Amino acid sequence: MATIRIAVLGAGKIGGTLGSKWVATGHQVAFGVTDPASSRAQALRAELGQDATIGEVADALAASEVVALAVPGGAVDALLAAYASQLDGKMIIDAANRMGGGPMNSVAAISAAAPNARVYRAFNSLGWENFADPVVNGVQADLFYAGPDDAANGAAGDARATVEQLIRDVGLRPVYVGGPEQVALVDAVASLWFALALGQGKGRHLAFKALMP
Ligand SMILES: NC(=O)c1ccc[n+]([C@@H]2O[C@H](COP(=O)([O-])OP(=O)(O)OC[C@H]3O[C@@H](n4cnc5c(N)ncnc54)[C@H](OP(=O)(O)O)[C@@H]3O)[C@@H](O)[C@H]2O)c1
Repeated sequence: MATIRIAVLGAGKIGGTLGSKWVATGHQVAFGVTDPASSRAQALRAELGQDATIGEVADALAASEVVALAVPGGAVDALLAAYASQLDGKMIIDAANRMGGGPMNSVAAISAAAPNARVYRAFNSLGWENFADPVVNGVQADLFYAGPDDAANGAAGDARATVEQLIRDVGLRPVYVGGPEQVALVDAVASLWFALALGQGKGRHLAFKALMP
């Protein structure tokens, strides 16, 4: 499998977990953070050694073809305003959840700022524990995702295949829910996760499996 050059923006629970998995599966990962000297950045640097870089957002974007947004939802708009031209034309995976009402995803905002980007909604609907350990009670968890299907639409490239690869490389089974019009459905899965894992006290390692004939 070809190495994918990925910028992971945010190096917290989600960014750190996904980025570490992608490093372990042979991809080239550049973390972009607000403070490359923070204790969190230094701990990740020590853990990953030469296999990843952790630096400024602009440097991570310059080194990447795929971008994973793993920052707080409230930080996304400022990132889009500051780095729109660097984001344009890339494959962008929105894992950030805007909390507190309104849509949880930033897909429309990303597409407005970077109209030539291929934008996917993924890695937002399960707790990070499932990305660290994607097998629950011996069963591989599913990850529901949405975004453009270039190959089916006759467009150049196959960004969806790359997203699926990155989901598999985390250890989850990708389940494609549909195009950009289905992004809200992926967010509804996140709401279901919140209701069960947190609201009903089932625990953060709760995950989902679609049973298919
Ligand atoms: N935690 C989960 O289980 C989970 C599951 C699915 C989706 N999500 C979503 O994933 C996103 C990240 O969550 P998290 O739990 O990983 O949060 P976290 O542990 O608090 O990490 C957030 C990261 O974003 C960085 N950051 C903040 N503002 C930034 C900016 N403007 N530019 C670059 N980096 C910035 C932070 O850096 P500093 O520490 O230096 O500020 C930190 O590395 C959120 O949108 C969340 O809703 C979380």
